[in-house]
Amino acid sequence: MSAVGIVAAAGSGSRLGADRPKALVELAGRPLVAWAVDTLLAGGVGEVVVVVPAAERETVAAVLPGSVRLVDGGATRTASVRAGLAAAGAAADAVLVHDAARPLTPPDVVARVLDALAAGALAVVPVLPVVDTTVAVDAAGTVATALDRAALRRVQTPQGFSRRVLDAAYDDLPVGEELTDDAAVVRALGIPVTTVAGDERAAKVTVPHDLHLAELQVRR
Ligand code: C5P
Repeated sequence: MSAVGIVAAAGSGSRLGADRPKALVELAGRPLVAWAVDTLLAGGVGEVVVVVPAAERETVAAVLPGSVRLVDGGATRTASVRAGLAAAGAAADAVLVHDAARPLTPPDVVARVLDALAAGALAVVPVLPVVDTTVAVDAAGTVATALDRAALRRVQTPQGFSRRVLDAAYDDLPVGEELTDDAAVVRALGIPVTTVAGDERAAKVTVPHDLHLAELQVRR
């Protein structure tokens, strides 16, 4: 099985409050996007496409291996992944979509996703259990219901798919409809999504505290 990786790196990262797009924010002296690309290659992905903010193409190219292809992103994550899929070579039979915002994802997670695809899964997501009591609130912020956390999972990336299935799912998704991850796009087609174990180190860098934690992790 051959796999192409798509790294979604075209977000602005406004919640991080940095002076540059999030993918170019540095962790231990290297931009987040470079960490994410390394993880995919180390985990067994053969080819990588990175979706970047159009204005940052050259800056991103300068920090990545020459074999990585770059493509301009869109206004939303869904639009960016669409652009990445369109640019991905046709040869690979599997595709892994990864967030640049998860720089410390261990290559083992990538390998688990690839193994599940090789075993026949059409769609695979890494997940972690929910450890906090989790509730739903109404519009006023009052607790409406407590959810059974035993059945809940936090979903990470990279998410893996049969190339044929992900192409079909994005073709089927009406333009302008935005979903927060790629597994949701595939589930809209009625395809079952398999889970494998995620990793706390694959946490997403969203706010400044997340970056502090990531810095502590690499310094250990
Ligand atoms: O905003 P959020 O943290 O959920 O974004 C997840 C990932 O999607 C990030 O790696 C970000 O760079 C990417 N993204 C993108 N294009 C957008 C918005 C987000 O590639 N327009």
